[in-house]
Amino acid sequence: MLILSGKDLSAIVKAETAGKCRLFENRFSRKPCLAVVLVGTDPASQTYVRSKKKACEELGIAHLDIEFASDITQTQLLECVADLNANPLVDGILVQMPLPRHIDELAVTEAIDPAKDVDGFHPQNIGKLLLGQRSLVACTPKGVLRILDHYGIQTDGKDVCIIGRSNIVGKPMAALLMQRDRNATVTVCHSRTKDLASYVRRADIVIAAVGCVNAITADMVKDGAVVIDVGINRIPDPTKKTGFALKGDVDYENVSKKASAITPVPGGVGPMTIGMLMENTFLAACYREGADPSEFGGAV
Ligand code: GUN
Repeated sequence: MLILSGKDLSAIVKAETAGKCRLFENRFSRKPCLAVVLVGTDPASQTYVRSKKKACEELGIAHLDIEFASDITQTQLLECVADLNANPLVDGILVQMPLPRHIDELAVTEAIDPAKDVDGFHPQNIGKLLLGQRSLVACTPKGVLRILDHYGIQTDGKDVCIIGRSNIVGKPMAALLMQRDRNATVTVCHSRTKDLASYVRRADIVIAAVGCVNAITADMVKDGAVVIDVGINRIPDPTKKTGFALKGDVDYENVSKKASAITPVPGGVGPMTIGMLMENTFLAACYREGADPSEFGGAV
């Protein structure tokens, strides 16, 4: 059984991206720059944003930090996005989700310049992805593909079962895997799927993105399947300094006995999301400068 370490792979991706960013800076006398916008005090969002900024610092990517209280109006947030769109030094704009309920997430997503949309959430980028055109691709699904590629797991002709239909993971994941360069047969399951186990059981590759602990159990998984766990669930745990433990959507202990390969939580898909965000920021900077990213070494 192979443990697919996103932690190890993200260290490789980050080192490669750091090298590319150094060459970018030599050529354009500036670093790629990511604007990170956080609204409110959701603890998970604060942790993610902190990790993203730390990664920028490790890699030589400049970051612009913007924080708002949760009572900011939608108009104020949209003005902030418009300013960042107009700022020539900003290559990437990330507005951490979820946003407070009084703010329309789609309106904010649509306000971001698609060329700076390093999350790949803008309808234009999602549309291009579906059409197989070059676009900025959502970081988590992109990170999942990078794990499969790194560990030599082919998707050609494979049955892939995605559990979860979110705009951030499930939908773009399905779009990527059904493209001509991936050739997977994709099934997307969700909360209204009848007999989920019957779909999961026939899959060669299972991708769980539900947001629910133990949603995928060993009895549902085929012997030798590859299992990718996108879930990051916080479970209260008084023995931990933070007061919680991180658990995925997959019953790791039992599913790992049947799988041929599996991602752990933590240390699986999570670190890859941040690695891909750094790579997308570099890519957006290159495209904005009219440069070919491959001129900076490596294939991205
Ligand atoms: N919230 C959970 N995942 C993400 C992500 O990848 N990007 C943003 N902006 N917010 C998120």
